[in-house]
Amino acid sequence: MLNLQNDDRIWVDDVIAKLTAKMGVVCERSRNKIPYTTRNGTHDNQIEKDINWWTNGFWGGMMWLMYHETGAQKYKEIANYTEDALDACLHQFYGLHHDVGFMWLPTSVANYKVTGNPESRKRAMHAANLLAGRFNLAGGFIRAWNDDTTSEDTRGWAIVDCMMNLPLLYWASEETKDPRYAQIAMKHADTALDAFIRPDGSVNHIVEFDPFHGDVVRTYGGQGYEDGSSWTRGQTWALYGFMISYTHTGKPEYLQAAKRVAHYFMANIPDNGIIPIDFRQPKEPAYEDSTAAAIAACGLIEIAQAVGEYEKDVYLNAALKLLKTVDASRCDWTTGSDHLLMGGSAAYHHQDIHVSIIYGDYYFMEAVFKLKGNDLFLW
Ligand code: GLY
Repeated sequence: MLNLQNDDRIWVDDVIAKLTAKMGVVCERSRNKIPYTTRNGTHDNQIEKDINWWTNGFWGGMMWLMYHETGAQKYKEIANYTEDALDACLHQFYGLHHDVGFMWLPTSVANYKVTGNPESRKRAMHAANLLAGRFNLAGGFIRAWNDDTTSEDTRGWAIVDCMMNLPLLYWASEETKDPRYAQIAMKHADTALDAFIRPDGSVNHIVEFDPFHGDVVRTYGGQGYEDGSSWTRGQTWALYGFMISYTHTGKPEYLQAAKRVAHYFMANIPDNGIIPIDFRQPKEPAYEDSTAAAIAACGLIEIAQAVGEYEKDVYLNAALKLLKTVDASRCDWTTGSDHLLMGGSAAYHHQDIHVSIIYGDYYFMEAVFKLKGNDLFLW
């Protein structure tokens, strides 16, 4: 139990009232879409643009969170619509990548958990098998990307984001009682512990392994500022991802890893609470990423719930600071625009800087429901 202070409880209730009011309007406008971002305040639609895009599960996930909170049927209808749309990816097969976890956990696994729909279970199992099939035995890692989207040879590439895809494998083992999926997830997590987390608690974004022999070849800065820097969203994928691996396995080394990354992250939160794109970026331009704040908050709240009374406030207070800063300075609560969070950034070297990004909205919502004690845990 989190046992929030009274003023924090009042703040959570206020944010949920604002969320409910805004989402009630926005979901109707975006009923037939899978959004990634907004253009002039209006959601784009990945069904028309790129149905394999890794973020295509988050809108459905938001709908399940809202359905869980309100019971309003419209959220379930929209979630079903997005899940059906994703079938095109399963049929095409080519174009799918390790982010099948991000795509089918908040859609099909969510649907199955809430309604028991056997079709959703089938889709999620299909996705889990695709993810398991990307495992490289020599290196003990799950391959991230395919060579069709890049000119690089990515057979040996693993990225820290994959920690958030592992729960699809844990779910598949829990569901089938077949340990193979969880074994792959734990092997990948063990590899990530050694190869991604640095001694100071910061993490690499990309590690390249020799795909035939498994040795580490080199690291890349990926979506951060440069190799050796500290891309903040990558830190949060590790923070929350290791925490989720702990939740599913009970292995104390995963909790220790989540805490190590969390302590590094908390020590680097600027006084104003605004999270940069990279903790080691130049001071100017003052690039920021609100999505990292929202994801970090989710992980910190989960850690707070797992540790003892005497240490939980360290994590809970950091999460509250991040979320209150986002609410006060980066949320658009008007019903005229489709997005919740502004100030999201796809990557340091990317044109999508300081924009709205759907996973920022999703994780902000998830964090607030966790604080209320009404989280539909989808990981
Ligand atoms: N998983 C890719 C990203 O965080 O941008």
